Amino acid sequence: MSRMSIPDIREKYENGENLTMLTAYDAPIARQVDNGGVDMILVGDSAGDNHLGYNDTIPVTVDEALSLTASVDRAVENAMVIADLPFLSYGSSMEESVKNAGRFMKEARADAVKLETAPSGKTSIKVIDRLTELGIPVMGHIGLTPQRMNQIGGGYVQGRGDEKSATIEALIETAEQIEEAGAFSLVLEAVTEETGKRVTEVVDIPTIGIGAGRHVDGQVLVITDVLGLSEESYRLSKQYADLNSVICDAVESYVDDVQEGVFPASENVFDAIDEEG
Ligand code: KIV
Repeated sequence: MSRMSIPDIREKYENGENLTMLTAYDAPIARQVDNGGVDMILVGDSAGDNHLGYNDTIPVTVDEALSLTASVDRAVENAMVIADLPFLSYGSSMEESVKNAGRFMKEARADAVKLETAPSGKTSIKVIDRLTELGIPVMGHIGLTPQRMNQIGGGYVQGRGDEKSATIEALIETAEQIEEAGAFSLVLEAVTEETGKRVTEVVDIPTIGIGAGRHVDGQVLVITDVLGLSEESYRLSKQYADLNSVICDAVESYVDDVQEGVFPASENVFDAIDEEG
């Protein structure tokens, strides 16, 4: 079976099927996420705080993200693999933007890239236009855009039109420009449900929400939140397992076994006659 393609995503969208996306940052988790049947796997720059031990997404480098994307790519058979372009890897110049996005396709073998756009953000719209013209599929991302967190000042819900939040109209206009520039899909992060609904009504590309309510075309969550591997829980997310406890219990059992001399046992050791492992 080949991987989910842009026409496959389009077909599901046109048939009114809800699209599914989860993040993954390494091969073992990507394999399970793929086996679970998601349409798309995002190697998000949320790797910064969910995988690489940073406080946020800002320090993630192109080389780090390339390595994570390549490891996910090697494990995935069915889902589309989308690489998130790190902070300032696009936008400083067109040449640099194309070069970096191209590395995710050529070296890490991503199927598409994602990049964030500020409300009315002209530069990244031009980048989307150029990348799609060159054959690099692009997923847009508006609403709460974590790469702008130092400007926004916190994780404020967008679309409320107050001093911490863009207006619905600004977000709709930006979404339309992203569609016009050629993006095949659009992430809406932490926006009011009304914003999610209105943007979804206006654009003719699938909208994928995270904290964007019920009236979008698909959903995405961060895998560490879903699996219970995070330190915090968020209103926009849902935890489906408690791997922190599972892992902690497993490690404690291992430590006990070793300390008590229970592991290794006779079945774990080799003798001179039968060397099969
Ligand atoms: O980096 C990420 O995980 C994302 C999702 C929240 C959409 O951008």
